[in-house]
Amino acid sequence: MSTPRELTAAALEELVKLARLARERAYAPYSQFRVGAALLAGGQAFSGANVENASYGLTVCAERTAAMAAVSAGLRQFEVLVVVTGGTEPSPPCGACLQVLAEFGQGMTVVLAGPHGVHGSYRLEQLLPYAFTLDRERGPDE
Ligand code: THU
Repeated sequence: MSTPRELTAAALEELVKLARLARERAYAPYSQFRVGAALLAGGQAFSGANVENASYGLTVCAERTAAMAAVSAGLRQFEVLVVVTGGTEPSPPCGACLQVLAEFGQGMTVVLAGPHGVHGSYRLEQLLPYAFTLDRERGPDE
């Protein structure tokens, strides 16, 4: 697997570690599907875990937890996101998370990792090639 161009191998390893640590703090009593995310923005790292709720629809994904932390700290240019899940298969961010990530980093790198290593690395546009933006909001007749 190639290293995303923004990152040294050591920096990527740090983000993976951070995401694994966040995954350990996931609150997933309903699905038992624990996710950890670590986001690099402005040279700073932010992490997040999925937080479920007895009212299932209120669950927040790990990626969005990390994204909210970064934006709340004033960082709006996302560079790299590492997502750590369990098992042997990579698990990309869900569609809702991809749309939220696109708001702050159309060109960002998304790295999918598991308990024992990195599965693959993608550009956000590969995972969400036609993100919604308000640029298309107004047509000529409005
Ligand atoms: N989940 C994430 O944290 N990220 C995703 O991109 C997809 C799903 C969480 C939500 C829920 O707690 C569990 O995984 C099962 O859907």
